[in-house]
Amino acid sequence: MSTTTPKGPKPDNAMPRLVYALIGVLLAVLLVGTGGFLWLDNNHRAMPTIGGPFALENGDGKPVTDKDFRGRYMLVYFGYTFCPDVCPTTLTAVADAMDKLGAKASKVQPLFITVDPKRDTPAVVKQYASAFGTTIQGLTGTPDEIAQAAKEYRVYYAEHRTGPGPDDYSMDHSSILYLMGPDGSFIAPIRADQSGDEMAAAIARLVS
Ligand code: NI
Repeated sequence: MSTTTPKGPKPDNAMPRLVYALIGVLLAVLLVGTGGFLWLDNNHRAMPTIGGPFALENGDGKPVTDKDFRGRYMLVYFGYTFCPDVCPTTLTAVADAMDKLGAKASKVQPLFITVDPKRDTPAVVKQYASAFGTTIQGLTGTPDEIAQAAKEYRVYYAEHRTGPGPDDYSMDHSSILYLMGPDGSFIAPIRADQSGDEMAAAIARLVS
């Protein structure tokens, strides 16, 4: 009596597994590498979903939209006039950068959009923005309009209570400048925590 065991090649799984593992590693490296590359390289429009249409009010209480700035670069910043430190420091640097941009300054419109529309009326944002430099425009709007604009720019902000009174609050908010192109599309984030010189250099590289 003899038993027959099924002959035929046993599937050798070792090699394919190794190949799949290597392919996986390669893909991971490529994805991470590409992500890092896209994030770091300002000339590539890696984050096209930042920015978008907004409908707000200017310092004279007149309606203003993103389309009013077509043909010029927008340097967009969200903050609020009662901000104790970050906003004034940033706007001081922006005004300084505009001074140092030379001929390119006329191509750039800095916009200060309040995240505190309750206190920052058109007159308040106008006076505040112009105190830093004549080129900075302060914008406000209804709470819904501000919320919509902030959403487009992926800006975080939240009321932070400091006491029982109606004005006893500060605003937490993200602090990033956004450089938008003459067609309104996002070009690059500009760090808000740099000097006017550094900011001017960063903007000059991106404005043609
Ligand atoms: Ni601030």
